[in-house]
Amino acid sequence: MEQCSTALEKLVKIGIALSSVRDLNKLLDIIVTQARELANCDAGSLYIKDGDSLKFVVSQNDTLARKLGASQQAEPFKPFNIPISNKSLSGYVANNGVIVNIPDAYDIPESAEYHFDKSFDQRSGYRTRSMIQLPMKDNEGGIIGVLQLINAMDSVGQVIPFSSDDEEMLLSMASQAAVAIKNARLNDDIREAHLDTIFRLGIAAEYRDKETGNHIRRMSHYSTIIAEQMGMPAERVEVIRLSSPMHDIGKVGIPDGILLKPGRLTPEERVIMESHTTIGAGILKDSNIPLLQLSQKIALSHHEKWDGTGYPDRVKGGDIPIEGRIVALADVFDALSNKRVYKEAMSIQETMGIIKDGSGSHFDPAVVGAFEKGMDRVMEIYEQYKEL
Ligand SMILES: [Fe+2]
Ligand SMILES: [Fe+2]
Repeated sequence: MEQCSTALEKLVKIGIALSSVRDLNKLLDIIVTQARELANCDAGSLYIKDGDSLKFVVSQNDTLARKLGASQQAEPFKPFNIPISNKSLSGYVANNGVIVNIPDAYDIPESAEYHFDKSFDQRSGYRTRSMIQLPMKDNEGGIIGVLQLINAMDSVGQVIPFSSDDEEMLLSMASQAAVAIKNARLNDDIREAHLDTIFRLGIAAEYRDKETGNHIRRMSHYSTIIAEQMGMPAERVEVIRLSSPMHDIGKVGIPDGILLKPGRLTPEERVIMESHTTIGAGILKDSNIPLLQLSQKIALSHHEKWDGTGYPDRVKGGDIPIEGRIVALADVFDALSNKRVYKEAMSIQETMGIIKDGSGSHFDPAVVGAFEKGMDRVMEIYEQYKEL
């Protein structure tokens, strides 16, 4: 009885842990770790259903890891696909939605429909004995993947078969895991759709402005390179990459007569044109999403100058958000170094001359320094998305 409640407690804990992991890859890894702990076994793998095939996504093996040493891996794990057919064990489990529990993988009777593929053992010197494979079914009964555990061990480390208690616990855990995977995938889809929409919103604004989608791509990359060179943490760099494309979103609010005017703007027209910063900030204001909050800051501050002569607020030096200072440089570098319908491209040398001249007046010297340090990668992006 006591053992029973312990198992249930473990399952509940695992369920809670799994439902809190949003990152799909992390989640898949945790599922295998938890399942191995639950059944006390040496190795485990996970296959995810991917159309008509199974994608082999996680592989853990304590014995082999010990043999190779903690830090190195002889054969780095690469995900691969196998077709779903009854011939392979995992394919059989995915196809029929049943558990296969085998005391010794080398003793599968000839009459069985599936067979065990010894090639991994032969390559690695591992001996697979007891093995259990379970279908991972979501709450609608759909098969999400297959969980495979190998070499259950008793308290002294001897390999034993998986018990029927193991079967029951693992099956329950596998369906919790399936639901968690389904949710994480949904999150991924929503996130991707969200980011794609944001990016296209940026492009929409640039279209009105005789600019191209490539301007958005290049300057987002340049901003990322600068942020990295400045030593910002990866997550912050990523937010800059995704929010910089919206710097000119406020241009959707500028009348065509001004936005598309071929000649010089009158002082009155210039004031209206410069309001694309405050219009952009207005579009993006009051969001709870950090990405949009940063986009708002960038939209507002990307025309401010280091010496306080920029617009709209004439903010100076370190009072300008760092992301605004970064995007300011990326934006100007790109505008100068590429051709537009109305102007020829400036050479990189000429462009860099102007950027360096502006260091300490237009641009933050630290941002200019970071940009110069990342010049090799800047040139790769420049070549890749060049206007033809
Ligand atoms: Fe702008
Ligand atoms: Fe721009």
